[in-house]
Amino acid sequence: MQPAEISGISGFVGQSVLLSGWVYNIRSSGKIIFVQMRDGTGVIQCVIERSSVGDEIFEAASSLTQESSLEITGSVKEDKRAPGGYELDVTDLKVIHVADGYPITPKSHGMSFLMDNRHLWLRSSRQNAILKIRAGVIRYIREFYDNRGFICCDTPIFTPNACEGTTTLFGTDYFGDRAYLTQSGQLYNEATAAAFRKVYCFGPTFRAEKSKTRRHLTEFWMVEPEVAFARLEDIMKLAEDFVVEVVGRTLENYRGLLEDVLERDVSMLERVKPPFPRISYTDAAAKLKEKGVDFEFGGDFGGNDETVLSEEFDRPFFVHRFPAAIKAFYMEPDPDDNKLSLSVDLLAPEGYGEIIGGGERASDLEYLEKKIEEEELPRKAFEWYLDLRRYGAFPHSGFGLGLERLLAYICGIKHVRETIPFPRLINRLSP
Ligand code: 4AD
Ligand code: MG
Repeated sequence: MQPAEISGISGFVGQSVLLSGWVYNIRSSGKIIFVQMRDGTGVIQCVIERSSVGDEIFEAASSLTQESSLEITGSVKEDKRAPGGYELDVTDLKVIHVADGYPITPKSHGMSFLMDNRHLWLRSSRQNAILKIRAGVIRYIREFYDNRGFICCDTPIFTPNACEGTTTLFGTDYFGDRAYLTQSGQLYNEATAAAFRKVYCFGPTFRAEKSKTRRHLTEFWMVEPEVAFARLEDIMKLAEDFVVEVVGRTLENYRGLLEDVLERDVSMLERVKPPFPRISYTDAAAKLKEKGVDFEFGGDFGGNDETVLSEEFDRPFFVHRFPAAIKAFYMEPDPDDNKLSLSVDLLAPEGYGEIIGGGERASDLEYLEKKIEEEELPRKAFEWYLDLRRYGAFPHSGFGLGLERLLAYICGIKHVRETIPFPRLINRLSP
């Protein structure tokens, strides 16, 4: 018998196939049992009639419960009314394992119950759709950089120092020394950019964020390009091309899942076309004031400020030149006003907020030495980083995009926790 996968079932119309998988749903009308079978690649309705399978198989089928595992043989037919468009007329069936009281039933469950059962919840169609899209987005991200001649240079996860401020570091013992889980590969990207010109890293990133917002994970994936001799404007253009391509390809390849399973209003994604609006921090602060938000110039945007700002635009938009005081030590000061920095964030519309953070890096040795001292960073751990300013200092820029934030926006999901297989949050380390 030909083994087949449900995603490829259209190629088997009129033929007999062997499917293996689990019971997604089951109902019976006495003489006929309808099994919605899922195999990880899709779901298909299987029709089991006593008259065609005989008593023994029919009784075995009657014992099936939600998420029982089985093998089914049957002939494939096209049926416009069936969910998915195909149906299987069952001729044989082998029960592999009968599941006992699967906890997630078609009725609605609370979020914390579902999160506790994340290892099982992944089997549901909505979670399945989100994580399939995630896999696609990861592919498009890599291809975007690979196709443009960027060299993928992995950066370490154990690090001796902070990149993004010492308050969100996860520390760990490293053979008697202190090590920290990486907050960003950027500092290492700056070294590899001097070796390869255009580089990126893409991996897990850790922040001991004490915030319980819908945008924060303690472990998330970040893609970070870094480009030698690029300036702030160049990196904004790169970020624009990047987001346009990734959103565009996702829409092209996953429109069905986005619309039918996730009920995403894809017209919002169709608008993701260049040019993205670019506003300065100074103008954004004035805009917030004008809209009656209690925001002081000089402060960082909170989640609510980002939401209010993002209501102004129908596509992602850049906010550039934040005050140096609220940005990391490595930012290049703005030559027109050294209280400002050559930094940039990209914010998604519809209240999704910041998805990208980056900018131009300070390339002057003395300036960085001063910043490291001011911020009381451990000078010794930064010596190698300062070497990049000793041996052929060069202007360079880059940014980091949070994969889960981008996915929440693409999929139209409020909270980032559903966009990663096993989310890590301030109050969640399991399953
Ligand atoms: O703005 P951030 O902190 O920038 C950096 O880490 C730079 N060193 C990147 C660089 O220039 N190479 O983080 C970048 C992005 C944010 O815009 C956001 O999308 C995501 O990473 N991010 C988080 N995502 C989920 N949970 C968190 N706790 C996040 N913190 C940042
Ligand atoms: Mg940021």
